[in-house]
Amino acid sequence: MPKEFDRDSISNTLIVAIGLSLVCSVIVSGAAIALKPIQQSNEELFRKQIILEVAGLMEPGADVRTLFESIEERVVDLESGNYAEDVDTAEMVAIPDELDLAGIGERARYIPVYHVMKNGELDQLILPVYGKGLWSTLYGYLSVAPDGNATRGLQFYAHGETPGLGDQMDKEDWRAQWDSKELYGDGDQPQVRVIKGLVPDGIDGGEHMIDGMSGATLTGNGITGLLQYWTGAHGFGPYLNNFRENS
Ligand SMILES: Cc1cc2nc3c(=O)[nH]c(=O)nc-3n(C[C@H](O)[C@H](O)[C@H](O)COP(=O)(O)O)c2cc1C
Repeated sequence: MPKEFDRDSISNTLIVAIGLSLVCSVIVSGAAIALKPIQQSNEELFRKQIILEVAGLMEPGADVRTLFESIEERVVDLESGNYAEDVDTAEMVAIPDELDLAGIGERARYIPVYHVMKNGELDQLILPVYGKGLWSTLYGYLSVAPDGNATRGLQFYAHGETPGLGDQMDKEDWRAQWDSKELYGDGDQPQVRVIKGLVPDGIDGGEHMIDGMSGATLTGNGITGLLQYWTGAHGFGPYLNNFRENS
C-alpha cells in the first residue's frame, strides 16, 4: 500500500516551503530581467521630459521623442572643457575636499550635455547638476544661454527635501527667477547664489542673486554650493568659458 503524504511532518513542510520560495524567486527574478528594458526606456523618457521642461519646450500631451528632436546630446570632457567622442563615460574623478561644494566626493570625467537648437542655431545649453541639500542629493538640470553666462532655467527632478520647506525649489514662481540671472561677474569665479530672504530691489550684484526659500535656508545653501561647484573650475567652468570667450 503506498505511503500517505504526511502534511505535518517537518521534512515535508520544509520541502514545500523551500520549493515554493525557489519558484517565487525564479518568477521575481524573471520579471525583473524582463522589465529592465522597459524601466530603462521609461527612465530615458523621463530624463528627456525634464530636459524639455527646463528648456521651456515641454507641452502638455506632446510626444517627448518628437520634441527632443531639436536637442543634440554632446559629451564634454570636464578637464579640458572640450567635446569628446568615443570615451569611457564610466571614468570617475575624485573631487578634492576643498573644491567639493556640492558634497558629492567624485564625478564622471565625461558628462553628456544638451544643445537646444532653434532655427539651426544654438539656443540653450542644458547641463546636469547635482549635489547635497539638507537631507538628500538634489538632481537637476541648469539651462544656460549660448553666452555661457546667463541662466535660462533650473529644474530639479529628484530630491528628498521636506515637503513645504526644502521642496519650495519645485515651485513655479521660485523657479521663474532662474530666467536671466548671471552665473559670473568679471572673473571666472561663479557668483550665482541663493540668498537668505528676498533680493532687495536694485542691490549691487542682484543679477547673481535668487530669493531664499522661507524656512529652508539650508536647502538653499545646498543649491548655491552645487551650482557653484558645477559652474566652477572643477565642473563645467572651462566648458562655459569657451562660450563666454566667443560671445
Ligand atoms: C522636520 C524638519 C524638516 C526640515 N526640513 C528642511 C528642509 O528640507 N530644508 C531646509 O532648508 N530646512 C529644513 N528644516 C529647517 C532647518 O532645520 C533650518 O531651520 C532652516 O533651514 C533654516 O532656514 P531659515 O533661516 O530660512 O528659517 C527642517 C526642520 C525640521 C524640524
